Amino acid sequence: MKHLLKLADLSVEEIFSILNLADQLKYERKNGVRHPHLAGKKLGMIFTKSSTRTRVSFEVGMYELGGHALFLSDRDIQLGRGEPIKDTARVLSRYLDGIMIRTFKQQDVEDLANYGSIPVINGLTDYCHPCQVLADLMTIREYKGSLKGLKLCFVGDGNNMANSLIVGGIKMGMQVSVACPDAYRPDAGVTAWAQQNGQLLVTSDVLTAAKDADVLYTDVWASMGQEGEKEIREKAFKGFCINKDVIAAADKEAMVLHCLPVHRGEEIEEEIFEAHAQEIFDEAENRLHAQKAVLCKLLK
Ligand code: CP
Ligand code: NVA
Repeated sequence: MKHLLKLADLSVEEIFSILNLADQLKYERKNGVRHPHLAGKKLGMIFTKSSTRTRVSFEVGMYELGGHALFLSDRDIQLGRGEPIKDTARVLSRYLDGIMIRTFKQQDVEDLANYGSIPVINGLTDYCHPCQVLADLMTIREYKGSLKGLKLCFVGDGNNMANSLIVGGIKMGMQVSVACPDAYRPDAGVTAWAQQNGQLLVTSDVLTAAKDADVLYTDVWASMGQEGEKEIREKAFKGFCINKDVIAAADKEAMVLHCLPVHRGEEIEEEIFEAHAQEIFDEAENRLHAQKAVLCKLLK
């Protein structure tokens, strides 16, 4: 494993190995064990979109591993003034041991990896969010004991979260269903791959998707960069939310997850969000442990 650009690039064994290391790092941290596996290593973190969890967990993660993280906002670095990604890649490769990037186009992340000579980690693009889904898989395994055979249902927009959940879920032997409006289906390449490699249902019927699900997952209707489409999306996504009917259709023991930030009263009802806050904030915490595992795999 040279980079983490998207989950499709990882083997099942590599995903298991990351999840196992993440569990170990979490356990050690809880027991006060220091683990400076990345002493002296430097990670650049490029952000062209906002972030709370990704930024803080990567920065804290590098600190706890004995390394250092640099926050590089596109408002400050020359990338934001038009310096090409291929030049940024070659320059940063001379200073750093790894780069994490959150941006719009998946191609920019791939280019950063292709032109640079150090590991690149995708901290979210419009296409996918692999770091989040590694933390999600870790959380599901913590609560359910294993992943294989579980049914994971995503309700909402077929963009980054849906694409990564489909790939991650199918790779781990889960059955995946996605409920979304017809105009907002997941990436066609992702659904074609999933249908060849496992069980995926994409439907506009939320209750059909949620039937007997072990995990219900949702995300905002308008993602970062889509703020201008807020009104159109509010209409298109009406009903694509986790409410009492969806909970009733799912398995009695179903977990509810959300990558956060949440829009209460849109994609999930307030009461349901709060009833499942423990697992949702465990999920947020697990970003730290899962990313530390990825950092160890790539930078050590
Ligand atoms: N879930 C997630 O990636 O959160 P941030 O946007 O706060 O990083
Ligand atoms: N789909 C959301 C995920 C945020 C973590 C977005 O891209 O804004």
